[in-house]
Amino acid sequence: MNDLDRYDTVRAVHWHGDHLRLLDQRRLPFETVFVDCRSAADVAQAIRDLVVRGAPAIGIAAAWGVVLAAQQAPELLAEAITQLRASRPTAVNLMWALERMQRAIDAGADAGRLADEARAIQDEDLAANRHMGQLGAALLSGGGVLTHCNTGSLATAGFGTALGVIRAGVAGGKISKVYAGETRPWLQGARLTMWELVQDGIPAQLIADSAAAYLMRSGAVQWVIVGADRIAANGDTANKIGTYQLAIAAKHHGVKFMVVAPSSTVDMATPDGAGIEIELRDPAELLGVAGTRTVVEGANAWNPVFDVTPASLIDAIVTERGVIERPNRKAMTALFGA
Ligand code: MRU
Repeated sequence: MNDLDRYDTVRAVHWHGDHLRLLDQRRLPFETVFVDCRSAADVAQAIRDLVVRGAPAIGIAAAWGVVLAAQQAPELLAEAITQLRASRPTAVNLMWALERMQRAIDAGADAGRLADEARAIQDEDLAANRHMGQLGAALLSGGGVLTHCNTGSLATAGFGTALGVIRAGVAGGKISKVYAGETRPWLQGARLTMWELVQDGIPAQLIADSAAAYLMRSGAVQWVIVGADRIAANGDTANKIGTYQLAIAAKHHGVKFMVVAPSSTVDMATPDGAGIEIELRDPAELLGVAGTRTVVEGANAWNPVFDVTPASLIDAIVTERGVIERPNRKAMTALFGA
């Protein structure tokens, strides 16, 4: 067991041969229950309902959804893929995984071969995260970091993207403390990231999302480290709502800003952030907390769940292919092709 193996003990996505078992992220941290998906439609529903969430994890789940469709009704594969693709719009890992499965189908893969492909997508994601952990941690030089949303084992095949860098940074003595924003309205930071950090014994404190600028002013954090749902060809990055304001506050306070994401999150076909579809979810998610209504009946809400951080506010994009400092189209093209 190396130093990093003591971190990262959770897995969100489990293949069981004829069904997909997902750790129900709606119920964490107080209940550990699983949802069994027995069809591609079940998987699409689980993605829509946030049973499974996080860009890489939904791509992996969708790949297994294609396997279920191939096992049950190969003649309906195209329909299943369309349904899975429509489950959430922003994270490009979903479309990337489905396109990879489609290429295997076009090459004549049967359900067994498609299972190999889905397994490869899952395994490669874990390996990418471990590698990005080292690359990202090498940029750190000690002190505190702030993260947003959940980018850990729960959001990926394991280890995590931004949280992977944090795990590697803590293991290497490059991070003394982690602050996690609670991430309203769905509380991925409060419910999921704090759960992972506490399990790993990493020194961490939760902050209200609205405390971030004040935290930066105090000098307690040297880096903001976040994941991504889609990185456009010029480096503009879509991530959980609130990321953009963190980047603005970081720039103002001289705090560095790092995006960590595998190449499956890079979308070179979208020129810049203006072309990224931002998911709008049910206002009800914002009108209450943990299922209890907190806002007067008759009130409405606007609930975009992602925003776009311009490349000009990003100090480094860390991928498993390498690190891009001060990202722009030229540097992105050099690493990812046109
Ligand atoms: O709505 P979610 O929970 O799926 O949003 C997740 C995020 O925004 C993550 O930061 C992103 O997907 C990267 S996860 C490694």
